[in-house]
Amino acid sequence: MAEVERARRLAGARSTSVALNAVTAQVDLGGVQAHTWTYGGQLPGREIRVRRGEILKVELKNQLAEPTSVHWHGIALRNDMDGVPGLTQGGIAAGASFTYEFVVPDAGTYFFHPHSGVQLDRGLYAPLIVEDPDDGADYDTELVIVLDDWLDGVDRTPDAVFEELKKNGMGGMPGMTMTMPKSELLGGDAGDVSYPHVLANGRTFRDPQAVDVRAGQRVRLRLINAAADTAFRVGVPGAGLRVTHTDGFPVQAREADVVLIGMGERLDAVVTMPAGSVPVLAVAEGRDQYAGVVLRNPDARAVSVDDGIVKQLMALPVLMPTSLRAAERAALPVKDPDVVHDLVLEGPGDKYTWTINGKVYDPDDGLPVREGQQVRLKFDNRSQMFHPMHLHGHTFQVRTDANSGPRKDTVLVLPGRSVEVDFHADNPGQWLTHCHNVYHGEAGMMSLVSYVE
Ligand code: C2O
Ligand code: CU
Repeated sequence: MAEVERARRLAGARSTSVALNAVTAQVDLGGVQAHTWTYGGQLPGREIRVRRGEILKVELKNQLAEPTSVHWHGIALRNDMDGVPGLTQGGIAAGASFTYEFVVPDAGTYFFHPHSGVQLDRGLYAPLIVEDPDDGADYDTELVIVLDDWLDGVDRTPDAVFEELKKNGMGGMPGMTMTMPKSELLGGDAGDVSYPHVLANGRTFRDPQAVDVRAGQRVRLRLINAAADTAFRVGVPGAGLRVTHTDGFPVQAREADVVLIGMGERLDAVVTMPAGSVPVLAVAEGRDQYAGVVLRNPDARAVSVDDGIVKQLMALPVLMPTSLRAAERAALPVKDPDVVHDLVLEGPGDKYTWTINGKVYDPDDGLPVREGQQVRLKFDNRSQMFHPMHLHGHTFQVRTDANSGPRKDTVLVLPGRSVEVDFHADNPGQWLTHCHNVYHGEAGMMSLVSYVE
């Protein structure tokens, strides 16, 4: 373990220390006030930015009334810093502190959030950006945009929502089937919960964040979907996207009008600023809601967004992250798997149970792998809803006929479909693999990749 950790560190790399407080706060969502749980009283929490190969040291102070934890989503870190209570550490009690300290091996766009109950659906999330010294050749400036679906402190709490879902189970609430979001693109149900708001960088589109950008400047968007139950279509009407990375790792650059980002996924795309001001629009898939950030040309007129622009955006072709191809430097060597694990995804049972291979999460019942093995996971979705399946501590390569799929840590598996992913078992430990719909995960759709001797 120590050796694996040492190998991740770049010679002479510095270390960064951050103090992080989990606290309740009143936040302004852009015209809407909400009392919620946050990192440091702001939404999203303040970004952490480090360089590849550095040591990151974060002291979390839990000032909430309940235990919490921090998971560093997408980072191939040492197992005891992965932030999963009951598996890699104990929950951090109310009033207690815990220091996370680990080497951050790979550059890219990441984020962090609790791995305790449905706390992710409150305001506990923030970007973690890992810079590469070779970054910056194809853009002039960057903009991190965190997307979210919101109800805490406005409507019900996430805990109340989860209780309701379990009470109503598969039947749903009377009349609920009519209002639940559906999506042709996602091939079935688009979500289990209805939200009063969707947010970009903590704000509704009533009063969005605006950023000044001059015509011709190239902006690297770092898009992060921190929502619990919502996938987003993202596009910039009046300017195209040049997609460069997904889940932190470079892809063969692709032009697109609109991209789809599931929960837990990240996507980087470069926008060349046109002559006028433009919005980066994020439309909640299957719901009549959108959020966004305005790229404002100080020399041009203010941007006006109406339902017409959103309709136009919804008519454009959508690039799915699974159709991207890994950049050559990110592709894994082509190898036959030493071990293949099938994960059959089903739900919701009559008590709102979401299962993997017919079982809800049991930390003592993992999918065994050995260090050094080439591992294939085969996600087989037999339910009516999409699942963004996430693996901790590794990135996998999505398997395609040509062996050229993107490197990712979270992949959308649509209803009735199966997706295979390959990875090299090079990071010993106990690692969750689960649906990043926080309600599905908590309702059982979690398993673990368990390194055995
Ligand atoms: Cu962001 Cu276990 O996940
Ligand atoms: Cu799911």
